[in-house]
Amino acid sequence: NRVVALIVAAGKGERAGGDVPKQFRMLAGRPLVAHAFDRLAAHPGVDAVLVVGEEEPLRDALGDRPLLGIAPGGATRRLSVRAGLEAIEALGGADIVLIHDAARPFTPTAVIDRLLAPLETSPGAVPTLPVADTLAKHGAALGEVVDRDALVRVQTPQAFRFDDIMTSHRAWRAEQEPTDDAQMARAAGFDVALVAGDPMLEKITRAEDFAAAEARLGARSF
Ligand code: C5P
Repeated sequence: NRVVALIVAAGKGERAGGDVPKQFRMLAGRPLVAHAFDRLAAHPGVDAVLVVGEEEPLRDALGDRPLLGIAPGGATRRLSVRAGLEAIEALGGADIVLIHDAARPFTPTAVIDRLLAPLETSPGAVPTLPVADTLAKHGAALGEVVDRDALVRVQTPQAFRFDDIMTSHRAWRAEQEPTDDAQMARAAGFDVALVAGDPMLEKITRAEDFAAAEARLGARSF
């Protein structure tokens, strides 16, 4: 099985503030996207890594790390993933693709093990965490409380059979932009297995998330 990791690192990351997009901000001496690359490339099952985003800052951030390629990003995360999938196809294809956000720098090896195992029988697998807070609908005033035991938080990397996620992207017609790829696979009729996620995979979205991520990094090894 040829396993290719696809890291999406396009977009401006405006909610994180700062002069440079968050995927290029430094964290513990390395740009965020370089952390994301290193954690995926370190897994023995991962054969190659392709990164989606602007070529020049990516080359600067990744130095001489071996890349399958760099593909230009799109206007939305979905279109950036799509561009990456097309590039992988043009570069020889893959059996399995791990689609990952550069904004989640610390992928534990064990999570990748858990994602690859169900791919023997399932078209897809995603890491999830339980919901700890009370969840309610909002509007002018607080509305109905949603049953949190029926919900999970969905992280990346997300593993898919390459052909199935490509089919899902080509079939996607909904008006709303998806926030991840698992919802596209489900919409196309492919089963997606749930495996245990990890707090190390929290996404960096806002400025204050950098300090929290640095603390998580200091508190544990992979
Ligand atoms: O902005 P947000 O944190 O939701 O983005 C998730 C991931 O998607 C980030 O790693 C970001 O670089 C990527 N992205 C992208 N192309 C876009 C928007 C976001 O590759 N147009």
